[in-house]
Amino acid sequence: MRFQYSSTMAVFLVLLLAMTVVVIEGVIRCDTTAKEREMIVEDALGNLRESQDFQVIQGTLTFNHRQIGNPAGRYGTVSFPTWSQPLGLCKSTTFNQTSPIPFSFCNIAFTLGPRDAIVWLGCTPPPAAYFSIRSYVAFRFSPSVWFPAAELGDPANHMTLNSTGGPEDPFEKTTMVFSTGDRETARHVKRAFAKAGFPRGSSNLDVIPAELARFRERQETAFWVQDKSDAFAWQFRVSQFEDPEAAEAYFDQTWPVYFLRARPEYEKRGAKPIPRPEARPRGTGQDEAYLHPSLDKLEEEIIVAYASKGSKLSYRFPMDHIVPDIERCLTDPQYAPIFKPVPAWHFPGWPSCDWFSADALYTGLPDTTDLSALTFPTNRTFVVMGVNQPRLQKSIYSNLMLTAVAHFEGMKACKGHKNKKLRGTRLQSSERHSEYTPLDRIKFILYPHPGTSGWVYLCFSLK
Ligand SMILES: *[C@@H]1O[C@H](CO)[C@@H](O)[C@H](O)[C@H]1NC(C)=O
Ligand SMILES: *[C@@H]1O[C@H](CO)[C@@H](O)[C@H](O)[C@H]1NC(C)=O
Ligand SMILES: *[C@@H]1O[C@H](CO)[C@@H](O)[C@H](O)[C@H]1NC(C)=O
Repeated sequence: MRFQYSSTMAVFLVLLLAMTVVVIEGVIRCDTTAKEREMIVEDALGNLRESQDFQVIQGTLTFNHRQIGNPAGRYGTVSFPTWSQPLGLCKSTTFNQTSPIPFSFCNIAFTLGPRDAIVWLGCTPPPAAYFSIRSYVAFRFSPSVWFPAAELGDPANHMTLNSTGGPEDPFEKTTMVFSTGDRETARHVKRAFAKAGFPRGSSNLDVIPAELARFRERQETAFWVQDKSDAFAWQFRVSQFEDPEAAEAYFDQTWPVYFLRARPEYEKRGAKPIPRPEARPRGTGQDEAYLHPSLDKLEEEIIVAYASKGSKLSYRFPMDHIVPDIERCLTDPQYAPIFKPVPAWHFPGWPSCDWFSADALYTGLPDTTDLSALTFPTNRTFVVMGVNQPRLQKSIYSNLMLTAVAHFEGMKACKGHKNKKLRGTRLQSSERHSEYTPLDRIKFILYPHPGTSGWVYLCFSLK
């Protein structure tokens, strides 16, 4: 991302720092205090250290990556000190200017041995429509670097997560989540935390299945450039929080996260792989064909309404569902289920499963679409219509994001309309969503971006 440093920016940064100080002082709500959690963790890590099986490396879990992503939600990622990661990993996980998405995932991706674990004990977010935690294979390096960003199984979400509140009361409660591919390590971790007084029923094993993952080989003796093992990452998603202030206080926390690196002796004893857990069934199985006549009617009404204002229908794009095939995400470096190539835009496509979550359904344009028609001059209005799934109680929320190829998903793309306002609009749109009738439309008005030669990034206003 090109970035020009100016004195205005310096002022902005100073202001930002001042604001950060205030927010850090804001206390998050949780059923444990930071001191209590610290004592449990210290005690548990002490138990783990005693076994001599692990080296403990402290990292952080933060929500501060605002450069990219869906403005209706926030993404937490974990980061470990550079010295604890293979030399060259940072460079290999930073996209350069010629890649479609110039962005750095340096320090949010880490390598793992077959018996290693990542452990977080912390608090769940304040009330939100949704949250979940899952490990992913972010990067693969063989035959050469590519970005599967593939989810390794169903995430633990607000409806399934074990916490001190249980699934009925998942917010602002204490939880422990740990990722490993090894059964014995999982037992060690659970036992260490239980001995430290943390309830067993409040911990969550995030399985990294050996069938899918490429772990490091013999970490002490082999170089990463030789084994070319995966770079993993965590995605901690929080979407559509109820109280923005409580949410900001939560997102401003820096949570400690621990990397338990198997010591050579323990590693040599051999991994005990945990099999891949069975996936949760998707969907309710209820047919929606009965809504077709109403949808057709709605479409007609929209066309008539626009015609009366002097507009005519230029294009009609039927949408399609996208559910990436995770195994293909991990084995086919050319697989681009989400961002397909668009020669008319000189867009090479993006071979990635882009952090798709099994908890979600993505909707996009089918392969047969003439994407060259999908441009947004200011005289064009873009209307989306369809079934309001939250209203049918088939999903918790849905949202829509428009993004341009340039400044893809960029928060800065809406400079003219202020990021904060954009976020507000987006939040509002999602909150209101449940008030719509089951068949509804959202109207997007697209504004040109000042200083660019054509159209538009992703600003819209809701009718
Ligand atoms: C830049 O990124 C592109 C696309 O990801 C890749 O093909 C190319 O090798 C990279 N170039 C350098 C110098 O890293
Ligand atoms: C949640 O807790 C229950 C009861 O202890 C346990 O059986 C289950 O495996 C836990 N879930 C996860 C994801 O670890
Ligand atoms: C809308 O704007 C585009 C691009 O500026 C232009 O080519 C097109 O003719 C306009 N269409 C109408 C109906 O004015």
